[in-house]
Amino acid sequence: MDLISAKDAATKWDISQRRVIVLCSEGRIPGAQLVGNSWVLPKRAKKPVDARTKTAKAKSGEAKPFLKWAGGKGQLLTEIGKHYPFAEKKHIKKYAEPFVGGGAVLFDVLNKYTVDEVYISDINAELINTYITIRDNSDELISRLKAMESDYLAKNADARKKAYLEARARFNALKRDGIRDAEAASLMIFLNRTCFNGLYRVNKAGDYNVPMGAYKNPQICNEDNLLNVSKKLQNANIVCGDYKDSASFIDDKTFVYFDPPYRPLTKTANFTSYTEQLFDDNKQLELANFVQDLDNKGALIVISNSDPKNADENDNFFDDAYSKQIIRRVAANRMINRNSDARGKINELLIANF
Ligand SMILES: C[S@@+](CC[C@H](N)C(=O)[O-])C[C@H]1O[C@@H](n2cnc3c(N)ncnc32)[C@H](O)[C@@H]1O
Repeated sequence: MDLISAKDAATKWDISQRRVIVLCSEGRIPGAQLVGNSWVLPKRAKKPVDARTKTAKAKSGEAKPFLKWAGGKGQLLTEIGKHYPFAEKKHIKKYAEPFVGGGAVLFDVLNKYTVDEVYISDINAELINTYITIRDNSDELISRLKAMESDYLAKNADARKKAYLEARARFNALKRDGIRDAEAASLMIFLNRTCFNGLYRVNKAGDYNVPMGAYKNPQICNEDNLLNVSKKLQNANIVCGDYKDSASFIDDKTFVYFDPPYRPLTKTANFTSYTEQLFDDNKQLELANFVQDLDNKGALIVISNSDPKNADENDNFFDDAYSKQIIRRVAANRMINRNSDARGKINELLIANF
């Protein structure tokens, strides 16, 4: 029987190599077999009718986060969405998200409303370079990611490890030299998809140091989503810098969502480094002052954070810092620090000025 590789089947059927591998491992291609670490298929195998990966969402043009990100708000969207101040409107004037991270709320807002002006920022330069590349240079980014995906998926475990470490070293070399281009953006996405738990962590020297993850068939290039994200971001101001830089954009027509790094629930909780800088209690208080200034300007503001009362019911840190705002406690789907006694479901804070 003539056999062909998953890569050749992908070209023949005009679908991604990853999709071919998934179809093989689901037993949907009669005669497909694993040889070593790679799938081979009978040359005559037929493409399943529903082989396309495009989801209903992607078809409808909706965008979703293109990275896994610590503190991602995917699970809190329903709660946060209840506090969008737009009621029945489909069109809003200005939206700002100064700690954008993976952008779960950003994309939810952009999928639901048309927005005249958008401002997003983050202190993480590599993250912001990725957003800018998707907005301005999605074709080059997608062709780089497609090449990385088919190269990576065709490798055995040892070769994948080697490829991961090489990509990480190259990413750090570009990072150290301050080179922010399509190659750096493709490495950011590649590492996020193949590393342990989609973490972004740097050491003291500023080098990204997350080990490789154990995903069997990671999706490295989600072309549909990248194109949808690119479309949604065409008119966005994308800024690398401190959240305070958003002050000049924000006015009484702006809805602002702040999702700063969480205040650790316990003193021993591991700090996950997003960047080289720490967001300590003083910074949380500075943010509360900044929010008060924007409140005085007439902006509509929502802020999320961890609820210190999960660990200590007498801890009034945010109740004091945001004493002029409305503080709501909502059930979150995450577990408290595994070393703590207080296992189980916990609350998060949604603070708003309306
Ligand atoms: C909790 S995460 C945001 C998660 C995001 N809401 C999501 O859904 O993925 C906080 C973000 O704030 C960024 N950050 C930390 N300090 C900052 C600062 N001073 N100004 C702007 N962004 C900052 C971090 O790099 C990180 O991406």
